[in-house]
Parts: sequence; structure tokens; C-alpha cells
Amino acid sequence: MSAKSPRKVRKVVFPVAGLGTRFLPATKVIPKEMLTVVDKPVIQYAVEEAIEAGIEHFIFVTGRGKNAIEDHFDLAYELEATLKARGKTAEIEILKATRPLFGAASFVRQQEPLGLGHAVWCARDIVGDEPFALTLPDMLIHGKPGCLAQMIETYNNHGGNVVAVEQVPHEHVNRYGVVALGKTFNERTHSITAMVEKPKIEDAPSDLIISGRYVLQPEIFEKLATQKPGAGGEIQLTDSMIALLSEQDFFAYKFDGKTYDCGDKIGYLAANVAYALDRPDIGPQFRPVLDDLMHK
Ligand code: G1P
Repeated sequence: MSAKSPRKVRKVVFPVAGLGTRFLPATKVIPKEMLTVVDKPVIQYAVEEAIEAGIEHFIFVTGRGKNAIEDHFDLAYELEATLKARGKTAEIEILKATRPLFGAASFVRQQEPLGLGHAVWCARDIVGDEPFALTLPDMLIHGKPGCLAQMIETYNNHGGNVVAVEQVPHEHVNRYGVVALGKTFNERTHSITAMVEKPKIEDAPSDLIISGRYVLQPEIFEKLATQKPGAGGEIQLTDSMIALLSEQDFFAYKFDGKTYDCGDKIGYLAANVAYALDRPDIGPQFRPVLDDLMHK
């Protein structure tokens, strides 16, 4: 623990402006973040993970056609009144989990799809001058405690910026941001010495990828403000983290949990199966059905 405790992380940013073209036609009208894993939208898992981590304010960077996300985290007055009249208390409880406290959710639009870095920058005024968490909801992480809670504990011990990392097969590193590690603090926590976004496989400094969970200092916004487009012609968050790396500490945190990349069809299907099997209410019934399908 440093002499002075790091400032509390109170806010989380969810970039949810992406078009979800990989899931057409499902995402023609429905935002990809509203696709369900079992019976809950992908974005709700991310919000619940943030609540578990002690986050108090939820910032959604949305875009055109994403109104369903805003509605999902609002009070559905008619629905709740009808459920109440019918005595459906269990269903009302389920809906309560979709309602942040009054004033605890903010929505800002990214008007143009200029990249993840640009999406995060769009949240600058709502985040203000304080450290914040950033969750990419597509990366669904099954962990107990959740990945963000683990990361905030690490941040509380080390300060600086914390980036969740995990090992992937070498041939997949070109799909992600990749980190190089320096000093080891403990089994899970290391300093970051270099980062590169979407490297060529042969140029990747390691097989440790950035997994879509971050705790960042507000100075990142100064870097993002002037960030030039990078990989894929997009304004990349990783490039601004590289710019901040010479001024601030960055820690890689090897979280305990399993990632399902729900931006990808196979990852999304795997998430549905894994989360269904893990659910005490449906897992035991689902397992024999799955076994049967597998052995056909
Ligand atoms: C983004 C980040 C990348 C990270 C990835 C995780 O890339 O830029 O560093 O590894 O998320 O999903 P994107 O998936 O937006 O291309």
C-alpha cells in the first residue's frame, strides 16, 4: 500500500456504441449489448459486476439505435404495476436489479464510430477529474468475485492504472491489445513496460492480451484529446495508455475468471452454455439435454 491511499473508483464507463454487424440480423434493431446470455442481456452482467465492485455511477457511451439500453436500466412503470397487481413479487425483484439508483446512470452519445479511445473520451465530462473503471461489455468474465472487484482491490493496493490481462493462444494475439511485463509484485500483479494494439503475430511482445477491464486515471483524457488514429484507422485507447505509460504506473492484473468474447458467435454460444450450466435453477435440467445433443 502506498503512503497515500489511492482515490476511490466511483464511476464506470461502458462503451456501447458499436454496431454489432457480426450478429446481423439479430442486431438490426436490437443493440448487441441487449442480446441475452441465458435470460439476461450481456450489458446487465457488466453492470452487476460493477455493482459488486462498489461502483456508484454508470456511464454508457451509446449511439443511434441504442435506446433499448437506456430503457432497460429505467423503471418499466406499466410492467411493474401489472406485475404488482398480479402479485408477481419474484418477477418484480428481477426487475429491481435493472434499476440503478436515481441519478446513478448517465448516457452520452458517441456520434461517430471513431474507435474505442474516442468512445472513452466522449465520457470525459461525466467522469471528471477522478479515477474510473472501464468495462468492455462484450468481454463477459465469469469470476467469483467478479473481475472488476478483483481489479479495484489491486488498484486500492497499488494505485496507478490497472489493466486486466490474460493469456491467449499465440495465433490470436493480433486480435487484441498486447502487453509486455516488467516487475512482479505478486503472482497476479506485474508492472507493464510496453503495450501494442493489434500487433502482427510475429511482433507481439507476449501472449498476454488486454481483456476489456481497466482502472484508469483521468489524465488519460488529456492523451485521448489529441490521439491520432492507430490500428484499423481508429482512435485507440491503447495508444493513449502508451502515451501515459511514461508518466504513470500501469499494472497488469492476471484476473481469476474465464472470459467469453460475446462479440464473437462462438464465444457468445459458449457463454450461454457455461452460464446455463452454472445456474442452480436450470443447470441440472440443462446438463442432460446438452449431453444428449453432444452424443447424437
Ligand atoms: C479492444 C481493445 C483491445 C482489447 C480488446 C478486448 O479492441 O482495443 O486492446 O484487447 O478490446 O476485447 P476491440 O475489441 O474493440 O477491437
